[in-house]
Amino acid sequence: MQQTAFIQGLIAKAQKNIKTIVLPEGEDVRVLEAAYEVAKLQFARPIILGDEAKIKTCFAEKGWSLQGIEIITPEKSPKLQQYADMFYEMRKEKGVSKEDALKQMSNYNYFGTMMIKSHDADGMVSGAAHSTADTVRPALQIIKSKKKGRSVSSAFIIVSDNVPYVFSDCAIIIDPSAQELADIAVDAAQTAIQFDIEPNVAMLSFSTKGSAKHEKIDKVVEATKLAKQQLESEEYKNSGIKLDGELQLDAAVDSVVAAKKAPNSEIAGKARVLIFPDINAGNIGYKLCQRIGGAEAYGPFLQGLNAPVNDLSRGANAQDIVGMVAITCLQAQ
Ligand SMILES: CC(C)(COP(=O)(O)OP(=O)(O)OC[C@H]1O[C@@H](n2cnc3c(N)ncnc32)[C@H](O)[C@@H]1OP(=O)(O)O)[C@@H](O)C(=O)NCCC(=O)NCCS
Repeated sequence: MQQTAFIQGLIAKAQKNIKTIVLPEGEDVRVLEAAYEVAKLQFARPIILGDEAKIKTCFAEKGWSLQGIEIITPEKSPKLQQYADMFYEMRKEKGVSKEDALKQMSNYNYFGTMMIKSHDADGMVSGAAHSTADTVRPALQIIKSKKKGRSVSSAFIIVSDNVPYVFSDCAIIIDPSAQELADIAVDAAQTAIQFDIEPNVAMLSFSTKGSAKHEKIDKVVEATKLAKQQLESEEYKNSGIKLDGELQLDAAVDSVVAAKKAPNSEIAGKARVLIFPDINAGNIGYKLCQRIGGAEAYGPFLQGLNAPVNDLSRGANAQDIVGMVAITCLQAQ
């Protein structure tokens, strides 16, 4: 299996500080192949959740080694009751009974998320066979936001002509308020820093610096103001994050257009973090780059969570899953 140069770089970093990543979809052969590849490349310790006998049979049939891979069958795990008790304690005020909690643990996304909460794993990659909502909901309920009251959002890394960009939010917050959009921008900038991408953030719109007027633009202008205020705080003062808006996409990434449309902007023409005004724009935008533009797309991965839990596209192949495990390892470092 040949990895892209971008993922090879992440794998090399992951190998320096090995993390344990849980893969709850052990019934899916793409996930099993990815686990085999991850263990072979020795950049993470994969834990597969599923029926041990079936998984072993599949590995034997394919001729894959199980070395470096742990298999856990949640129903038979000695931790099942402990996780259910913990979940009950966390969710009883929400009306969850002890029986509900135990039942919930037979959902492997919940069991895997409880493993992270209990420090039995460092991160999780799921979603090859589940919707984004089913993958992400346990993480929102159990792992929760790093900062109280702040929304968790998501990012993609898009690599075009060997240049990596962060796109956000393309998958979680459907119609962010101005404050949420500002938080998305600041969190995406930190994601960029985590992956050695320059944190030059463009707040995208269909207007550049007042070239058009509409309430949808007003939201982006307000979010830009709020994000700039955050970046002036002690926490971000020395982060190196540069942010500007509102900018059209061409003014954000093309220096010739930027010189005409936003000559005084510090980041216009060299933005590497693109913040979309809502999930419609973000989701369509990343798929355009991937499906028509031929760019590599990695994600969506969550940002702003206490520990990494990441979603896969249901169209993901084993190679995509390996890439997402590498991304998750870096987030866990
Ligand atoms: C992410 C998403 C699944 C959450 O929706 P949901 O499951 O209906 O969530 P709920 O409103 O029931 O909330 C569940 C919990 O998560 C929390 N939550 C929801 N969204 C959150 C966010 N963005 N950040 C932090 N917490 C969040 C809620 O506060 C709630 O916590 P609580 O139960 O402890 O009170 C929803 O925003 C969504 O569907 N987004 C779009 C996903 C999608 O289709 N993407 C396109 C394909 S990639």
